Amino acid sequence: MKTMLNIALPKGRLGEKVYGMFEKAGFPCPSIHENNRKLIFENEALGVRYFWVKPSDVAIYVERGAADIGVAGKDILLEYAPDVYELLDLDIGKCRMAVAAPKDFRDDPQKTLKVATKFSNIALDYYNSKGREIDIIHLNGSIEIAPILGLSDVIVDIVETGTTLKENNLEVFETIVPISARLIANKSSFMFKAEQIEKIVRETAKMTEEKK
Ligand code: PRP
Repeated sequence: MKTMLNIALPKGRLGEKVYGMFEKAGFPCPSIHENNRKLIFENEALGVRYFWVKPSDVAIYVERGAADIGVAGKDILLEYAPDVYELLDLDIGKCRMAVAAPKDFRDDPQKTLKVATKFSNIALDYYNSKGREIDIIHLNGSIEIAPILGLSDVIVDIVETGTTLKENNLEVFETIVPISARLIANKSSFMFKAEQIEKIVRETAKMTEEKK
């Protein structure tokens, strides 16, 4: 039996784009286009299996070897520091991690800054590096509401188009780091399935180069 290459795709628009790249790279799996709610798709003849997972879970599958490779945002890699290889910047899913605040916000360095975020580690690292004392308020979504209701002074969150901030009367105060989608691999799969993984890296790298 052929060894299967297991690929974790982030469910959603980014994942569709990634599948398109992998298909072009020589790893098609036509059944993935079937319109149903299945989450696992296989092309047995080619030895490839795709599965759709929550974007923030991709790195967990890859770290534990349930997936050999996957695609995760740099935000997730920075926040959770999974023990995986980061092989390639796919140059898609681009956005930035930023500090945002109400338009009239003025930072008072004498006071502990209250920071609401889903990305507590990124926020802590950022403010530690600046020597700024903060109080983290960890939230799971709708972060933009926190400063409006006085729960926090600022937020640390992903900004893509800036629409969410604008519609909630917030603006970017500082940019922390640019974010994009990364191809990641399980460390032992990278040795044992080197041939298939190298091919996918080589071919997708060509596609990202062509775009530039
Ligand atoms: C992210 C982020 C912002 C929004 C920014 O949320 O938390 O709310 O996107 O995008 P914009 O600058 O284009 O408006 P996402 O849609 O990923 O959902 P989430 O709140 O569940 O994280």
